[in-house]
Amino acid sequence: MENNNLSELYTTLLQAAKEAMGRAYVPYSNFQVGAALLDKDGHIHYGCNVENAAYGPTNCAERTALFRAIADGKGARSFQAIAVMGDTDGPITPCGVCRQVLVELCEPDMPVIMGNLKGNFAISTVAELLPGAFTPSSLHKEEQV
Ligand code: THU
Repeated sequence: MENNNLSELYTTLLQAAKEAMGRAYVPYSNFQVGAALLDKDGHIHYGCNVENAAYGPTNCAERTALFRAIADGKGARSFQAIAVMGDTDGPITPCGVCRQVLVELCEPDMPVIMGNLKGNFAISTVAELLPGAFTPSSLHKEEQV
């Protein structure tokens, strides 16, 4: 794909993540996060953070999008990109737990587009965001190199 098309796609995904941000349930942090996960069929799965009075059950926007997509019938590694949006100084970056879930459910080279409301953005990949990750293949000794 050409760079122009990529940019257009990423802009669309960041805009979708911004829309999802507005649906966040954040009575404790007041910090809204939105995510937009593009599957390989071209459908966007939305996610927002959903907090809880017990704090621990809080689900980040990225995981909400991923878990929703799985529950809607999408298979692991059937995704082509995810965008995340928050009101941060620089581009928002996924937490460690979400990075682990991204490693589990997405391909290592899948782009992660991180943005903020000021229009800053950064692009990384699932593998770059969690070097040395414990992966599904780590469970099977014979498959390790
Ligand atoms: N949060 C996300 O949803 N995604 C991120 O990438 C960073 C943090 C949420 C969790 C919690 O609801 C709030 O932001 C503050 O940490």
